[in-house]
Amino acid sequence: MNIDILTLFPEMFNSIMGESIIGRARNKGIIKINPINIRDFSKNKHNRVDDYPYGGGSGMVLMNQPLFDALKSITQNRKNSRIVYLTPKGKTYNQKIAKVLSNEENLVLLCGHYEGIDQRIIDEWVTDEISIGDYVLTGGELPAMVLIDSIARLIPGVLGKSESFIDESFYSGLLEYPHYTRPSNYKGRKVPEILLSGNHKLIDEWRTKESIRITIERRPDLIAKLFKRDDISMKEKV
Ligand code: ADE
Repeated sequence: MNIDILTLFPEMFNSIMGESIIGRARNKGIIKINPINIRDFSKNKHNRVDDYPYGGGSGMVLMNQPLFDALKSITQNRKNSRIVYLTPKGKTYNQKIAKVLSNEENLVLLCGHYEGIDQRIIDEWVTDEISIGDYVLTGGELPAMVLIDSIARLIPGVLGKSESFIDESFYSGLLEYPHYTRPSNYKGRKVPEILLSGNHKLIDEWRTKESIRITIERRPDLIAKLFKRDDISMKEKV
């Protein structure tokens, strides 16, 4: 998968996305993460990338010219790119959207700064507007990294064992069961007996029950969703 990121701060990606599982996947060539500096496309003699908003008001808007030129240059090499703009106004991100995006060959993540970007760039170029939650950050870089991390780990070969996300929270629509490791008695707190039994059928049943119990307790909204899984019919659109 190729991920092009349009940003004013490309260095943020090279450091944070160069470590651990994502760094390894990049080294193996499973994912290509390509941060592109929007400023490099500015034709302004001072390399400016922001401008005043029509109608007045506080804050600045990212200039159209560098954004347009950057998007044009990316998409002429990669046809059928999905262009995601990170914005608090977007659709709230979740595991289901991560799964859909993980099937894309070419992804462009557009990170806004200042007050955002011109609506006409959104109308002309953007295929999806995504928010990572109901709070406002100073830019789209951290949200872009959240998307990259969650998408990349769903691509076969990125995690050590390709099934390792199957049991996780949200994959099945439920929260994950609790984990335990040695010692079996930790300061008087014991590991549930069943996990020491070696009976994998009973262990699976216990884990499923625990998942259901924890989900009912913490996220009853997820249980309600399980009974109207419209996502099952959801194909490519997020
Ligand atoms: N940019 C600023 N805040 C954001 C958010 N919550 N999600 C996505 N992009 C953003």
